[in-house]
Amino acid sequence: MYTGEKVRLREYRREDIPLAQAYINKAEMKRLLSGSPFLLTLWDEEKFITSLSASQGSNYSFAIETLAEGHYIGGCGFNRLDWKNRNCEIGIFIGDEEYQNKGFGTDAMKILIRLCFNQLNLYKVGLNVLSYNERALKVYRRLGFKEEGRLRQERFVDGAYHDLIIMGLLREEWAQLEKEAL
Ligand SMILES: CC(C)(COP(=O)(O)OP(=O)(O)OC[C@H]1O[C@@H](n2cnc3c(N)ncnc32)[C@H](O)[C@@H]1OP(=O)(O)O)[C@@H](O)C(=O)NCCC(=O)NCCS
Repeated sequence: MYTGEKVRLREYRREDIPLAQAYINKAEMKRLLSGSPFLLTLWDEEKFITSLSASQGSNYSFAIETLAEGHYIGGCGFNRLDWKNRNCEIGIFIGDEEYQNKGFGTDAMKILIRLCFNQLNLYKVGLNVLSYNERALKVYRRLGFKEEGRLRQERFVDGAYHDLIIMGLLREEWAQLEKEAL
C-alpha cells in the first residue's frame, strides 16, 4: 500500500467490483473519462479487476481508499509502461462524488507520480484529457504536467467534437516541484 496525506493506493479486491462498476457507469464519469457511451457490465468490471496482476508488467490499477474511513472512492493506475524509453501513461477517477473537489484526487496523483519516478524509475509520465475537463486540467497543471499536443476534435461527445489534450511530466520537473514542496 502507498500512503499519502488523505488517501492510500491499495490493490483491488473482489468486494470493490459492484462499486467500481457503479462509479464508472455514471453518465458524468463516462463524459469526463472517455466520452464513450457504453456501460460496463458487472462481468466487464470483474474481468478487468481479476485481470490485474502484479506480474503483468505493462499496466496496473490501484484502488484509492480514504485514510480516514477506509472507503473505496476511485481508482488510478498506469498503462503502456515502456521500460526501454522509461515512460508510461497514467489515469485517475474519483468515482464517489462526495469526495470530489476535496483534494483526494490531487493526493492520489502525487502518490502515483512518486511511484512512477521513485519506484519504477521512469523518466516521463504522460496522460491525456478531454479539453472540457477543466477540473482535471487544473489538477494536472498544478502537478507540473505540460501540454504537449492536442488531437483536434478527436472525440464526439454530447453532439459535438472535442479536442483531446496530451500532457507530460518529466522526472526533473517533478523533482523541482517536490523541492519547492508543491
Ligand atoms: C479529476 C479528478 C481526479 C480531480 O480530483 P479531485 O479530488 O476532484 O480534485 P482536487 O480537489 O484534488 O482538485 C480540484 C481542483 O480543481 C478545481 N476545480 C473544480 N472544478 C473546476 C472547474 N470546473 N474548472 C476549473 N477548476 C475546477 C478545484 O477548485 C480544485 O482546485 P483548488 O484545490 O485550487 O481549489 C476528479 O475530480 C475525478 O476523478 N473526476 C472525474 C473523472 C475524471 O475527470 N478523471 C480524469 C480524466 S483525464
